Amino acid sequence: MRLTSCYNFHDFRRLAKQRLPAPIFNYIDGAADDEVTYRRNTEAFETCDLLPSVLRGVSEVDMSVTVMGQKLAMPVYCSPTALQRLFHHQGERAVAAAAGKFGTMFGVSSLGTVSLEDARAISKSPQVYQFYFHKDRGLNREMMARAKTAGVEVMMLTVDSITGGNRERDKRTGFAIPFKLNLAGMTQFAVKPGWAINYFTHEKFRLPQLDSHVDMGSGTMSISRYFTEMLDPAMNWDDVREMVAHWGGQFCLKGIMTVEDARRAVDIGCTGIVLSNHGGRQLDGSRSGFDQLAEIVDAVGDKIDVMMDGGVQRGTHVLKALSLGAKAVGLGRYYLFPLAAAGQPGVERALEQMRVEIERGMKLMGCTTVSQLSRDSLRFR
Ligand SMILES: Cc1cc2nc3c(=O)[nH]c(=O)nc-3n(C[C@H](O)[C@H](O)[C@H](O)COP(=O)(O)O)c2cc1C
Repeated sequence: MRLTSCYNFHDFRRLAKQRLPAPIFNYIDGAADDEVTYRRNTEAFETCDLLPSVLRGVSEVDMSVTVMGQKLAMPVYCSPTALQRLFHHQGERAVAAAAGKFGTMFGVSSLGTVSLEDARAISKSPQVYQFYFHKDRGLNREMMARAKTAGVEVMMLTVDSITGGNRERDKRTGFAIPFKLNLAGMTQFAVKPGWAINYFTHEKFRLPQLDSHVDMGSGTMSISRYFTEMLDPAMNWDDVREMVAHWGGQFCLKGIMTVEDARRAVDIGCTGIVLSNHGGRQLDGSRSGFDQLAEIVDAVGDKIDVMMDGGVQRGTHVLKALSLGAKAVGLGRYYLFPLAAAGQPGVERALEQMRVEIERGMKLMGCTTVSQLSRDSLRFR
């Protein structure tokens, strides 16, 4: 299978599976417990149907949106994800460059493998910095200062990861950073020499957002210890209110799921929220962002930008979320499998397919701008 024969999410996933050692593929593809929420995220889009309007003159379609003060040429963005250079040696550089070409926003994770500054230099697109709340308040402020200097437009605090999700696939393979593979896991690496040659002939693995604070390189600190020892499970709304004020710019919370929390996000001065269950990787059995969208948009949609992510595989999924009032939609595995499959050309091919699908879908819906999509554009079964 080759990149040129990839036409959708499933094709890219298959190609990524062919190329990646199984422990890495399963780290991306896996989710928590029984992976019910992971499956549900995509199924949720099938609980409603689009209602097209016809004969509306749709020769020119403008799919741009403005979210959190950022103008995006299309209504999807690349949600921040960890460890991208493990998936392909270009990692975050490929995603930043591809997002730049398509005029959309991209996130760099605290657990990213390319620095905020390097990503900024590659892309003129709006950049999100995803971070976690540390016990050390000085460290939180230092990270915000660094993001400001780097020219990051949007801060995104992930609030659904107060403790790690139960990822059983990773337990079975021994996937961890630093690598602690069991024998079965090591065998899986040995059968993918192409990946191994690529990985070991490029720059050394690093976590540049963290490595001046946490010694991960020499193996004394693992990601799981970073989560348990350095992050603060006691964080609360007052702590985050202080952070939002300290940042003094676009600030969103990723992982909001209830109306009450959405209202609190407004109260503490956030400018955005992302309805998300972390791609099903945290609380299994939790509801999908799409299922919660209408009620949260009704409650706070005029006060804060509501976004969602999880399970998006098609342009029509995006149209459904926009119809319910999402300002933009985040992509996770949708661009990660293409990254793993083929690096920057893979991410670009996936974003181009998404762009074409959204444009085609808007034409078939009789819409020339995103604002023409509304609750009347769909019906629940
Ligand atoms: C491999 C992987 C790593 C991720 N790493 C992070 C991360 O470091 N920080 C974060 O806030 N979300 C992370 N996420 C969650 C994504 O930002 C996003 O919420 C999720 O992938 C959306 O679901 P989808 O993959 O079905 O599109 C990660 C997701 C995946 C699949």
